[in-house]
Amino acid sequence: MRRTTAKFQTLAPHAGEERKLVAGAVAPAILQTTNFQWKTVAEFEKYLVGDPHTYIYTRYTNPTLEIAERKLARLEKVENALVFSSGMAAITSTILAFVRTGQEIVSANTLYGGTFAFMTQILPTLGIKTRFVPTTRIEEAEKAVNKKTALLYLESPTNPNNYIVDLKKAAAIAKRHKLPTALDATFASPYNLNPVDFGIDIILHSATKYLGGHSDVTAGFAAGTKEMMKKIELYRRILGGCLEPITAFLLIRGMKTLAVRVQKQNENAQQVAEFLSTHPKVKRVFHLGLPSHPQYQLAKSQMRGFGGVVAFEVKGGLKGVKRTVNRLKLIMHATSLGGVESTVHIPVLTSHIQFSKKELKAADVSEGMIRLSCGIEDAGDLISDLKQALG
Ligand SMILES: Cc1ncc(COP(=O)(O)O)c(C=O)c1O
Repeated sequence: MRRTTAKFQTLAPHAGEERKLVAGAVAPAILQTTNFQWKTVAEFEKYLVGDPHTYIYTRYTNPTLEIAERKLARLEKVENALVFSSGMAAITSTILAFVRTGQEIVSANTLYGGTFAFMTQILPTLGIKTRFVPTTRIEEAEKAVNKKTALLYLESPTNPNNYIVDLKKAAAIAKRHKLPTALDATFASPYNLNPVDFGIDIILHSATKYLGGHSDVTAGFAAGTKEMMKKIELYRRILGGCLEPITAFLLIRGMKTLAVRVQKQNENAQQVAEFLSTHPKVKRVFHLGLPSHPQYQLAKSQMRGFGGVVAFEVKGGLKGVKRTVNRLKLIMHATSLGGVESTVHIPVLTSHIQFSKKELKAADVSEGMIRLSCGIEDAGDLISDLKQALG
């Protein structure tokens, strides 16, 4: 894909697919091999002097994985990307690549549970402390930064309420203190947000969600400059968070349709959010495309689309939630998001089960909340299902 001016919709199916064609195949080849042979020792020795086309071992890299990486790098408008066996493998390898014993992280406080557990349960055993600041008041990071700080860590939009970080402000603080920034942009996907446009250095994705898009792939990405990816690559190679080539093929296939899927998911979420806002059994609705969302204006200035996730609070607390979820006929009750099928999940019974009452209040998550991840179905069918379930 030589054209550099191509639009996102064109890049998604084509970018990163430059490769030696096997029998003229249109689809990428799955090189399901753990290692590669060399015809001569001299051929192997090319690897030793850093020839990127001499492959050795799939845990290091593999041409099928590189297609996924080149595609994501183009979609995120960055130099390079690394694919991982999960979002958590990408997140943990990235953090470990930038923070040493005795150093600190300043992090936005609304995080995916696995990331929060890594920062509060595992990193302290390595002598690494994390100071948390509010996601929606990222300017407070300025006060939390000190001489030991080695990374500014962010997640935006957040689960389940779609709170967002002011990325320009965050990048400016990091620049003033010469800190690298890492942002988990899973909920946005590159279709709705390119964090690099706002000065963010490292973009992280659970590719298990929108990038894979079909609820059948567990994978992750880190993306950014060549120099930063080189640092992280060492941790992927040594910690072993590499992806299987056959799974990379499924991921590539999913990424080809990212633009059309996410566009439809954005539209569905907008229509569903507007419907829920008028329903007498719904107390509150969180979606970045609703002017009632406290960060609607910021979202408009920062994102190209408002995303496929809608959180809403039903009357009757957890009892009301259980009743509604049990009555859904089309929308599935399942924990993940970003797939072509719509799913709901109950935050207080899953992602937020460890939270105390006080912590739930601080996170603005209530017992009456349902998180809906809109798929690509007909919006009218989704609304009918919610209507009959809310009854
Ligand atoms: C925002 C976010 N980041 C990271 C992860 C972890 O990704 P994975 O399950 O692919 O390891 C998740 C998973 O739900 C997530 O929602």
